[in-house]
Amino acid sequence: MDAELGKLEDLPADYVRALKAQNLVPLWPSLRALLPPLKPRPKTKPTHWRYEALRPLLLRAGELTPIEKAERRVLVLANPGHGDESMQASSAIYLGMQLLLPGEWAPSHRHTPNAVRMVVEGEGAWTTVEGEKCPMSRGDLILTPTGLWHEHGHDGSEPVVRLDVLDLPLVHYLEASYHVNGERQATQPGRGDRAYTRGGIVPTPLFARSNRAYPVLRYPWAEARAALLALAEDQPALDAVQVTYTNPETGGHAENILGFHALMLRPGQVLGLPARSPAAVYHCIEGGARVAADDARFALAEADTCCVPGCTPVQITNASATQPAFLFIADETPLHQKLGLYEVRAEQRG
Ligand SMILES: [Fe+2]
Repeated sequence: MDAELGKLEDLPADYVRALKAQNLVPLWPSLRALLPPLKPRPKTKPTHWRYEALRPLLLRAGELTPIEKAERRVLVLANPGHGDESMQASSAIYLGMQLLLPGEWAPSHRHTPNAVRMVVEGEGAWTTVEGEKCPMSRGDLILTPTGLWHEHGHDGSEPVVRLDVLDLPLVHYLEASYHVNGERQATQPGRGDRAYTRGGIVPTPLFARSNRAYPVLRYPWAEARAALLALAEDQPALDAVQVTYTNPETGGHAENILGFHALMLRPGQVLGLPARSPAAVYHCIEGGARVAADDARFALAEADTCCVPGCTPVQITNASATQPAFLFIADETPLHQKLGLYEVRAEQRG
């Protein structure tokens, strides 16, 4: 048991004033908050954002604010544990639900935070990344990694909504966040999602492997879904039918800071996920799932999103006894692994 430490108010006022005058701060009143016993005390709270509630508000933003006045028509999924102003889902994850109306276009730009787009609804939108035009359909994952030029457009006839996942809170905290505007990109032939269609097979023209940092920019949902179904069929005893979006040249995560995964729950399945150090976001692509984390219980319907802090065991239940459920997961795994902080704890739920 850790001893209770002295508080700031225990100190004489003249001493506190003298410290302040010298830009000095006593450590002991804050020590337990900085280094709590046994496990972190995350500010991130388990939080659920229902698409049914969010969607009309997002569409109304399209009526209330012309795109020239908004530049990006986004409602940020703000975790109440971090406060509204900080606009973050966890310490490293930003989530924004973005509306694109037909004909709208975001000019070419690049920025230091890494981003991905998970398409939530609508057809006809596209993102061009370094000249590679990526069509966007429901469930597709499109990367716009740090420093790469990208622009967004929408040639369809219905609103498109996409979930943007960025490492903005971390990059902003590091005082490394900025953007640059550029010229309209010419579309180049060649698409990573076609060149790398088959697992375990990579292009090697004249025996040479690609050294591109991001050889695949678009991960079609049809491929991820098929991979999950094949894995489930091949390994009927496997509990966690799960895949990770990777860089096929390195085998590492698709981006540097946040990790992206897809999970299939068999009909009626109850799956316990271990308590891991990174926070995670769960977005329901297809079907429905019940999520239990700490004292929170969420019923995720299609297109719903929730966030769970790190070091929290999670139990996910497929709400259907007859149909599989499919979830997209974004988390802070690559960041924790690179920093040597990654931890899986034995505690498991349910
Ligand atoms: Fe961008």
